[in-house]
Amino acid sequence: MEKQETSKICCVTGGSGYLGYWLVKKLLEKGYTVHATIRNLDDESKVGFLKSLPGAATNLVLFQSDIYNPHEFKHAIQGCEFVFHVATPMQTTDTQSSQEIIKAAISGVRSIAESCLQSPAVKRIIYTASVLGASPLTKDGFNVNSCTYTVSKTLAEKEALRYNGEANTNGGKLEVLSLACGLVGGETLLSFVPSSMAVMISQLIGNLSTFVALEYMEQLLGSIPIVHIDDVCEAHVLMGEEKEGIAWDKSKLVKMGFVYKYDMENILDDSVKCGRRLAVVVSLNC
Ligand SMILES: NC(=O)c1ccc[n+]([C@@H]2O[C@H](COP(=O)([O-])OP(=O)(O)OC[C@H]3O[C@@H](n4cnc5c(N)ncnc54)[C@H](OP(=O)(O)O)[C@@H]3O)[C@@H](O)[C@H]2O)c1
Repeated sequence: MEKQETSKICCVTGGSGYLGYWLVKKLLEKGYTVHATIRNLDDESKVGFLKSLPGAATNLVLFQSDIYNPHEFKHAIQGCEFVFHVATPMQTTDTQSSQEIIKAAISGVRSIAESCLQSPAVKRIIYTASVLGASPLTKDGFNVNSCTYTVSKTLAEKEALRYNGEANTNGGKLEVLSLACGLVGGETLLSFVPSSMAVMISQLIGNLSTFVALEYMEQLLGSIPIVHIDDVCEAHVLMGEEKEGIAWDKSKLVKMGFVYKYDMENILDDSVKCGRRLAVVVSLNC
């Protein structure tokens, strides 16, 4: 793919994960300079993999940052226009309690948002949320059956959105957007099946533990919204791109049953006729 040109610098937390890696690759292809964070810069397999991406030699800078030491993200955030907060703490050891993971997810978001406010170049944080947080059964993330992941994602998203509109040190306003993703699958650039894809195909591979996660999703949402990894990352990029002007949306009104009688042509025709009737539009007769 031909590399496009942009001078934008952005940060991707969790650059070596399933979504993060695909997003970093896409951003590099689009010509962005990417500050990607990973937990361990000594992990040659992850570092080597990231450095092998096209464009990485010139446009990728790696930073070591752990959500359990959230101040570490500030170096990666410095000088960036957009911060894609993709990383999330997962259960990695049996000794980690749910409360620890949930607390880390929230304080991670808080610390990243504070670093963004201290770094006036940052215009927007794009938080990778989960549709699980939108379930009516997970109000505030809590429900008798909610797993640690659901609670942490719901509360971390809330914390992130709390920073929307906060003033940075230059008096500018930080924007926080949240992208609630369904179950992601379709392809991977990793050499193993990512956990969400394992959940998606759990019935085919006969894996009961991942099937339980599928059932859990259905229980919370009434259905299982799925989405392709490429669309997810393309949507992230779109949310990081500044658009000139505002796209108006009339879909809510239409959904409520409103029918527009006049299209653009009718409106302009009628306006010209009216202008002629009131003698402010001169007939050109051409
Ligand atoms: N996949 C889905 O279906 C789906 C759906 C909705 C939302 N999401 C969200 O998308 C994001 C990425 O998910 P994924 O499917 O790509 O999962 P993943 O492959 O497991 O990636 C998780 C990422 O988080 C990083 N991470 C974990 N613990 C960390 C810590 N303590 N400090 C810093 N980084 C840490 C990992 O970094 P290392 O590689 O350095 O360990 C990895 O990059 C998550 O926020 C997830 O909630 C995913």
